[in-house]
This record gives sequence, C-alpha cells and structure tokens, in this order.
Amino acid sequence: MTTKTLLRGRVLTFDRRPETDEDTSAYTYLTDGGILIGADGLVETVGDFDSIDAGDAKIVDHRPHLIIPGLIDPHLHFVQMQVVGSYAANLLEWLTNYTFVEEQKFADPFHAARIAASFFDELIRHGTTTAGAYCSVHPASAEAFFAEAEERNMLMVGGKVMMDRNAPSALTDTPQSGYDESKALIEEWHNKGRCRYAITPRFAITSSDEQLEMADALASEYPDCPIQTHLSENHGEIEFTRELYPRHEDYTSIYAHYGLLRPGALMGHAIHLSDRELGLLAETGAAAVSCPTSNLFLGSGLFDLDRTEGAGVLPAVATDIGGGTSYSMFETMDEFYKIQQLHANRLDPLLSFYLMTLGNARAMRLDAEIGRIAPGYAADFAVLNAGATPAMLLRMETVETLAEELFLLQTMGDDRAVSAVYVAGTERKSEITR
Ligand code: GUN
Ligand code: ZN
Repeated sequence: MTTKTLLRGRVLTFDRRPETDEDTSAYTYLTDGGILIGADGLVETVGDFDSIDAGDAKIVDHRPHLIIPGLIDPHLHFVQMQVVGSYAANLLEWLTNYTFVEEQKFADPFHAARIAASFFDELIRHGTTTAGAYCSVHPASAEAFFAEAEERNMLMVGGKVMMDRNAPSALTDTPQSGYDESKALIEEWHNKGRCRYAITPRFAITSSDEQLEMADALASEYPDCPIQTHLSENHGEIEFTRELYPRHEDYTSIYAHYGLLRPGALMGHAIHLSDRELGLLAETGAAAVSCPTSNLFLGSGLFDLDRTEGAGVLPAVATDIGGGTSYSMFETMDEFYKIQQLHANRLDPLLSFYLMTLGNARAMRLDAEIGRIAPGYAADFAVLNAGATPAMLLRMETVETLAEELFLLQTMGDDRAVSAVYVAGTERKSEITR
C-alpha cells in the first residue's frame, strides 16, 4: 500500500527574512518542484521534481499552481465568528455592545462545538493551517476548540481567556478559578498531538492585579506555553488601562511586571507604543502582532512595521476575527500593505509572504515545525492559483515575475485563490462541503 505522497508543482519556501526585494538567497523557488511526504505527515524531501525518487508514492500534480507553506494566523477569536462586521464607534463600544454579549453563548458546549467546526472549515478554506486563537472565558469553549483541532490534526494554539472584571458577570472568572481552569486545560491539551495551550489573560482592563499574578504563576509553571494578550490597541483602552494601573509606568510595563513578556508571547495590536515600550518587547522577545483589518475597521490606529522592526521587535500579522473583517491572510496582508504605504514604509511581496509563513511561525516560536517546506517540517501547505477569478486571470496575463504573482495574490486573492490545502500531508480543502 502506498503510504507516501509526492506533490508536484511550483514551490516557494523561505529560509529567513528577505532583506530586500532582490534578496533571492532568503528563499527557495522551484519552477518544477517535488515534495515527498512521509507516512508520518512530515516532509521527507523537497527539490526539483525530476531529482526525487518517487518509489511507490502517490503522485499529485498541482502544476501550474504554487505550493507554499500553510498560512499562519497568530491572532484571532474563534468565539467571534458571529460578530464580524458589527457596527461600533471604537473598540470599547464594540466589546461592550456585541462581543461581550456574543461570547456568553459559549457557556453552551453544543454551541461551542458547532462554531468550532465552522471555524476550522473557514481556516482551511482560506489556506490557514495554524492559528493562535482566543476562546471565551468558559473552559467548554477551549475543549471544543482543541477537540476539533485534534480531530483535524492541525497545529493549533489556543486558550480560554482569563477575565475577572470590567465585563458582564456571566463572562468573568476569578483569579483562582481562572488559574485552576487554565491549569486543567494545560494539563489536558498542551502538547497533546499538535495542540498547544496559550496562557490567555484577555487584556489588562479585564484582569485584576490578582489575576495577572495568577497568570504569572502559570507562566512560570509552564515555561514552554505560549502567552497571548492585547496591548495598546486604541487610545480609549490605553487611557482606561492607565487609570486601572496607576503605579505602572506604561501599558507594556504591566505585562512585564507580571512576567508575561517572553519569547512566544504574542502581543496583539501593539500600535501605540513608546520607544521604551518597544524596547521592553525587544528585550524580552515578545512579538508585536498587527491586525490590520481590525485596526482599520475599529479605527484603532496604524501599526508601523519599520519602527517596530527597527526597535528590534519581532513582527507578526493576523486577522483578529471578529474585530477583523476577513479570514483571508491575503486580504489581511493587502490592508497591512496599505497601512505601511501610509507610513511610507516599503513592504515588498516577498516580505509579505515571508511574514504570512515563516515570520508568523517565528513569532509563535513554531519555526522548527511549520512555516517552511523542508525535511522534518510538517507537510502543511497551501496550493495557490493566481488566476482563480476572471479578473485575476486577466491581470495574470501581464505578470512576468514571481514577485508580481505574489503581489497579485495578495492584492486580489482570497479563498478562491487557494485551490488545495494540506494538513500533515492530507488534502483537506476538498473535504469541506459547507
Ligand atoms: N481587546 C480585548 N479583547 C479584545 C477583542 O476581543 N478584540 C479586540 N480587537 N481587542 C480586544
Ligand atoms: Zn484580539
């Protein structure tokens, strides 16, 4: 019986961050590539198709499409699928009027399971094979999230939010229950198969000092757990945070004080930071995760990539569903590009595709497992068709270079440009019927 698969197509994978748009040594591009996938769902060999010994592998020909590592979305809320596009003046109004109402539904495990199935369908449809997700305060929501991830064998990071104040009582835990429930979920799910548990204090506004102390205790007990929270997204949020934590010098210092900044800590948004705060992120290795469609939709602000990277901070780019308005990492990167244009930053397409794959994997400290197509890496791929719609096909007639094709995918692409998706070596997009 055949247990191996050999994919054929154009292949693009990054080995490191490209420094310029002519930095061809940062990536490998094969015009007729082959990827041999072992029975264990890992890449065995990648190279020119003709150079690979197929043996009795099943050959799947994706030519002329482009095979890239599965897209990675390092910040979104699985419990907010039904609030996307809710009309509000700003973040705090949006949270109060819609999000904190919606998340109460996740006390019901049946609702959580139903939404989890749709959530993973949507990720696959868009070529996203790994995500960093916020669940609701209810442990049942995290159970549903991880059960679905495990079923689909996807590398997924998630955590129940810890929140013990400034929210409806139906959505609050306590410092002790938040700690106990998070710990039980870590023991059950962290490193189970491809599941990873992220310690998830929602943000400083919804956690008391006592709760952040408990999050600190969890972070010390589980040093390899990712951490995720929100930081400096919106001016009203920052002002309220300063009132709640008057003894701390600034917003970032609060998280630093409670031991929440370290490699693998994902600081969502991170827009309005002082040089000192950026310095704290750089020193500790915490990543700044930009969420462009959300920041434009909620009018939060314009993330400056050059300033962030210039300060030595690892950047990442994410959808932030449901503040964000698209599941597509291409549409997300398209908006990110436009925001960088407003800062007069150059964001070339090679850097964009690096960020959506290996760059986001690096921020999540998963870059030894995913984000590249290389021996030993998970066979998580997106197969892309830059001529997926009539308008794209017409535009493709004038495309001459790889960079131009990537830019077209970013500017005009969405789920229709993702023709197949592999998770640990198994094609999953064709299974989605909804
Ligand atoms: N800050 C705290 N919670 C949230 C959330 O759910 N969405 C966004 N965009 N910002 C937050
Ligand atoms: Zn968020």
